[in-house]
Amino acid sequence: MKLPEITILDEKNKLLHTVSEEIKFPMSTEDKKMLHDMLKYLEMSQIDEYTEKYNLRPGMGLAFVQVGIPKRAFVICSENDDKTFDKYIVINPTIVSMSEEMIYVGEGEGCLSVNREVDGIVPRHARITVKAFDEDGKEFTIRVREDLSVAFQHEIDHLNGILFTDHINPKCPYKDADQMREI
Ligand code: NI
Repeated sequence: MKLPEITILDEKNKLLHTVSEEIKFPMSTEDKKMLHDMLKYLEMSQIDEYTEKYNLRPGMGLAFVQVGIPKRAFVICSENDDKTFDKYIVINPTIVSMSEEMIYVGEGEGCLSVNREVDGIVPRHARITVKAFDEDGKEFTIRVREDLSVAFQHEIDHLNGILFTDHINPKCPYKDADQMREI
């Protein structure tokens, strides 16, 4: 596999702190191609052979804005136990419901735009239901839980100019940990 040529913006870039715009259908061919390139990049970043060859940091999700396109779309590539990958293209998403139960990733969240270690808890809903569109403009509804729910919320935040680090209280990074379930 050849690594797609994409440049991921760093957290210092102002664009990452702006609200992305709704996508209008039909999508441009370039935007569609970019979404697939981003998915391929994420898949390769989770395969040892390529992380070594290309010196990649493993990532599960990427929002359009992270590659310099401030439009409301993101992709997620999630590895299964049998080494296959589930791939999601999510456009103009809205969260239609969320669980009361909150969770957080024990080892901390990561982001391909944040190139440093950040300790602390990022509260997320254990389950959410999202309404969105696929690349052809067809509406769908998806219910996600656990790490996939965290990934969806992390990416939806990107569309609103929010990074996971914004959720962490620097003075008290483990605030309220006892009120949430660690995953
Ligand atoms: Ni991120």
